[in-house]
Amino acid sequence: MDYRRHQEPAVLLRVVARIGTRAAPVPKSLCLTRRFLTLLSAAAVFGPGPAFAAGDSVKGAAIFERECALCHTIGRGERNRFGPNLFGITERKAATAPGYEYSPEFVTEATWTWSPDAVASFVVAPGLTIPGNKMSVFQGVPDSELDDLIAYLAAQK
Ligand code: HEC
Repeated sequence: MDYRRHQEPAVLLRVVARIGTRAAPVPKSLCLTRRFLTLLSAAAVFGPGPAFAAGDSVKGAAIFERECALCHTIGRGERNRFGPNLFGITERKAATAPGYEYSPEFVTEATWTWSPDAVASFVVAPGLTIPGNKMSVFQGVPDSELDDLIAYLAAQK
């Protein structure tokens, strides 16, 4: 099965499950619109996230090379590529890489400070979390690679 083609519903289910466990109210008047998805992702961002302690950062480094390095550097002070440098990404404020020109969509929506959980929610489906952002061309990381990847990202600070 091509996992990626089935990713978006899986992400939605996961986000909804998170909302359920955190008992965040979701107004009935909103359906699956951009606004609703933004609310969902905001809830995922601000809720207490699961630990990614189980992840293997050595495996995560290889996943980063394969999935992210085309567009991102992650070492301190390294230059931006098509995407911004990701040093310290799991705890820095969104859209603040020095010298990087973010899309208006990203700047408007990504008003949070990243956490490991928030980055995980974003990278499984960037185009769903923030429609129109410049990373939307990237289809997302399979769930099976997420823990290792996040463990690696969280260690780069
Ligand atoms: C095709 C290029 C591309 C790939 C591949 C890619 N990204 Fe991105 N990423 C971007 C771009 C471009 C942005 C900026 C989005 C905008 O401004 O709309 C971005 C933004 C981000 C941000 C937000 C950064 C900030 O400063 O707030 C994170 C986190 C991120 N990417 C993580 C990843 C991870 C982790 C991977 C690998 C799993 C990855 N990206 C793969 C292009 C890419």
